[in-house]
Amino acid sequence: MSNDKNAYPVADKSGRYGQFGGRYAPEVLMPALLELEQVFKDAKKDPVFKKQLAYYFKNLVGRPSPLLYCGNLSKKLGGAQIYLKNEGANLTGAHKINHCVGQILLAKRMGKKRIICETGAGQHGLATATVCASFGFECHVYMGARDVERQRPNVFWIEQLGGKVIPVQTGGARLKDAVNAALKDWITNVADSHYLLGSCVGPHPFPEINRYFQSVISREIKQQMKEATGHLPNYVIACVGGGSNAAGAFDAFLGEKSVELIGVEAGGQGKARGQNAARFSSGKIGVVEGFRSFWLLDEDGQVDDTHSISAGLDYAGVGPLHAYLHETGRVTYTSATDKQVLAAFQLLARHEGILPALESSHAVAEAVRLAPTLKPTQTIVVNLSGRAEKDIFIIAKNFADENFKEFMENWTIEANNHSLAENKNPEENNAKKKGQKRTSKGKGVAK
Ligand SMILES: Cc1ncc(COP(=O)(O)O)c(C=O)c1O
Repeated sequence: MSNDKNAYPVADKSGRYGQFGGRYAPEVLMPALLELEQVFKDAKKDPVFKKQLAYYFKNLVGRPSPLLYCGNLSKKLGGAQIYLKNEGANLTGAHKINHCVGQILLAKRMGKKRIICETGAGQHGLATATVCASFGFECHVYMGARDVERQRPNVFWIEQLGGKVIPVQTGGARLKDAVNAALKDWITNVADSHYLLGSCVGPHPFPEINRYFQSVISREIKQQMKEATGHLPNYVIACVGGGSNAAGAFDAFLGEKSVELIGVEAGGQGKARGQNAARFSSGKIGVVEGFRSFWLLDEDGQVDDTHSISAGLDYAGVGPLHAYLHETGRVTYTSATDKQVLAAFQLLARHEGILPALESSHAVAEAVRLAPTLKPTQTIVVNLSGRAEKDIFIIAKNFADENFKEFMENWTIEANNHSLAENKNPEENNAKKKGQKRTSKGKGVAK
């Protein structure tokens, strides 16, 4: 690979970006990974596949996603002009749907019937359940038990879409544990299952595949900024969990020397061990979950606990492309604390009428810090990877919103009364339910 920091990095034959990446997978998965690599290579050259992808991007996802000039926020902060690339406007409310559409088309080409995935914030699980419902696949979503609790709205919607959510109790019951559980499932069921991995992580070719499908974000930004300002942006900022939205937002700018790229990790509650997910400031190089990259590891080389207010950034490892871009210096990686993230969330909500997901609020926080240091002729594009609906409980709790608390208490009382009323007369209720079931079946209504 070229040492020129402005060259466009592509994974080599063994899936490496410099010393990072690779395909450290159990033997039983190698045929599936090689098949996936070949199908992906063929699909990229196939005009029919490209047409299908463009169709679903436009008509299912709702692309192109809008680019909004944030006049109020820019004025308030002083300095640079801020633009938002709003991936939160996509179907399912985040960028994850981009690689889900791409991978489900690949799964169809491979003749697979069953989809497995992992999810942290639930956005990738939601997007996977959506494409599974749309394309007729069975859907199994592994999610850390802790994330099941804190991202309940997405769990509910995944189930409504027909997906099965499997809470993972092992380890820290977070994203890395969900990835391990999904990998175990794939090893057992590799013949008929595709692992629809949800970020630019995992063994090759997953990081390249997801980067390819997410690169639509930066291609659109390039065109939209040229239309809006006649120029490329000076800065592009994106949050970094595994790294898929950032890889997508940076991709078309990697070879553009004039564009500075900033990735923002979870600074959590501070620098202390276990209190953040800032892999570049305190991580070590290691091989975990099939790839070589920066990981938060303990003295014995075991994966450390992490913390972030946002489940989607609460991950101990970072995608290999980002590790490479960090090493070459092409991208600057920084972090935002939970406190800064909540302040940035509120600022964007109040001044622009946009509710960013907590993950995306990390990128907003960096723009809030950076903008006043720049000139009014300079521009920043913030990739808003998702919207805030899923975070309603976390945000309400952190802002100690008494009205929301009262609503929840009343809701719980009502729900308990409802089940008490049902239990009072179980025979009558059972008979009612049976009758309802018969009617539905008779009319050919779904379950
Ligand atoms: C809205 C949102 N943004 C960002 C992320 C982080 O993932 P990635 O770094 O792959 O974009 C997630 C992960 O769940 C997410 O839900």
